[in-house]
Formats: sequence, C-alpha cells, structure tokens
Amino acid sequence: MPDLTVPVSALSQTALYVAWARHVEAGQPHPLFADPLADHLVAEVADHPALSAFIAQMKVTSSGFPAYHAVRTRYFDDRIGEALDTGVRQVVALAAGVDGRPARLPCPPGTRWFELDLPEMTEFKTALVERSGLPPTCDRVGVAADLLADWATPLRAAGFHQDEPTAWLVEGVLMYLTPEEGDALLTGLTALSAPGSHLLLEHLQVAMLGELGAEVRAGLSKRGVAFRGARDDIADWLETFGWRARAHAGTDPEIGHGRAVGPVPGAWLAAGTRISAE
Ligand SMILES: C[S@@+](CC[C@H](N)C(=O)[O-])C[C@H]1O[C@@H](n2cnc3c(N)ncnc32)[C@H](O)[C@@H]1O
Repeated sequence: MPDLTVPVSALSQTALYVAWARHVEAGQPHPLFADPLADHLVAEVADHPALSAFIAQMKVTSSGFPAYHAVRTRYFDDRIGEALDTGVRQVVALAAGVDGRPARLPCPPGTRWFELDLPEMTEFKTALVERSGLPPTCDRVGVAADLLADWATPLRAAGFHQDEPTAWLVEGVLMYLTPEEGDALLTGLTALSAPGSHLLLEHLQVAMLGELGAEVRAGLSKRGVAFRGARDDIADWLETFGWRARAHAGTDPEIGHGRAVGPVPGAWLAAGTRISAE
C-alpha cells in the first residue's frame, strides 16, 4: 500500500476542504451525488491538522461552503455528462485536487480522464486512489504539472490528443491565479481544443474581493492562501478566447436542485463550447 503524504502547500490543501464538503453531501436528506473517494479521504486524513482545523471552523460558522460546493459539483457532473453524450471521450481536469469523478461518474468505454495538478498533489491523489480500492469508472491518468509553467508538454506526454475534442474542467483554481495567469491558462487550453470541445469553468465573483468576501479571505489568509483573481463578465471574457458560454451565479435556483445557496462564496459556474472557425 503506498504511503499517503498530505501536500504541504497551503494552496494544495484547499483541495481537502472541498473534498470534505463533497463528503458532507452524502449525509444530506436528498444528496445531489455520492463521492466515495471523498468519504475515503475523510476517513484517512480527517485528523491531519490541515483538515481538522478547517472542519472545526466549518462546524462553528454558518457557512454556505458545503451547500455551494454540492451545487457546483452537481452542475459540473451534469455538464460533463452532456459533453460525453456528444461523443467527447477525453476529459482534462486542470488543478484536479482530490476530485472523485473518475471513480464515480459513468464514462463510456474508451473515455480517458486526465487529472493535472502539482507534483505533490498528483502523488497524494494517486496514492489515495490506490488505497481506497475503489474501482475506476473512467480511465484516469494523473499528470504532474504546474499550470504556471509548460503544462501542455506533460499533458501530451501522458497521452492527451489535441486533435480530439476535449471536455476541460477548470474548477476551484482561477481565483488563486492573477488575471494575467487566468488569461494565459485560457489561451493555453484553447490552443489545445479541437472543434467539438467543451469548457466547464468556475470563477470568483468580484464582490468576493470586497466586504462580502472579507470573512472568507481572512480565513484563507490565516492558512497562507489568497484570492488573486475574480471577474463578472464570464461569457464575454470566454468569447474573446473563442468559447460560447453561459454563466450562472452559484445562487441561481435554475441550477440549485432546490438547494438554498447563500451569497458566500460568491462564484460563477459556466459551460460553453468552442466557436467553430467558420
Ligand atoms: C481548491 S483546490 C480545487 C481542486 C479540485 N479542482 C476541486 O474542485 O475539488 C485547488 C487545486 O489547485 C491546485 N493548484 C494550485 N496551483 C496550481 C498550479 N500552479 N498548477 C497546478 N495545480 C495547481 C492545487 O494543488 C489544488 O489541488
């Protein structure tokens, strides 16, 4: 059994918080999904200081964190399902963290699911998957790479085919990049997107950089993490890169499955397709 070494980077540890939120969803009256890998993660590392302090904080605040992440997870689950229904057989999750989708979403045979993250997180995730014993539902490939450097080369080396349509998942990461780094990420993934590709993306609302987000930012700051980018013009921004997309606020009842999601954390959830060259 491989050792499980929790990443030391504070930014990578945020992936544990989100996985905990997905684990919490299983205990809700009508869960929007089940995430057995998140359950396994909590069973393995709930006592690690990186996660235990966060869980304690969540229990004493009336945070909308778990509710928002439940809606966000279900939103992207459904959009990925739609992309697979159009024939896409290649998924790339950028900054995948400990996302449990390749162990829980039904993938058509032949679907390859690339999970790109920093080396220490990729190593942790691979060990976690193996220790969980969960059977894969998709052909998962871990890719150790830095999104602020050349990540296309390791992605290709892992078997990614840029002439095939891709479903890109950009969840829980753009807010930790500067606007310039976010633009570079969009330029990079668009250059690798064949016609028929899908883009599924989350971004932070600008209000979270003001009073609305003060408490969240203070909590993150104690852990050495900061929001560095936010924007409200998601559809227009994506169009400049060649994507036709629609964005919903996380609070939008249209995507909420009856869940009441509070204004914090304020974020956008967007899905789009590549605009054809004609
Ligand atoms: C909040 S977590 C999101 C994880 C996952 N997408 C989810 O929603 O559960 C942020 C993730 O971004 C990854 N990350 C941060 N900076 C990165 C970089 N420069 N390159 C690759 N991954 C990065 C971290 O390691 C971490 O796994």
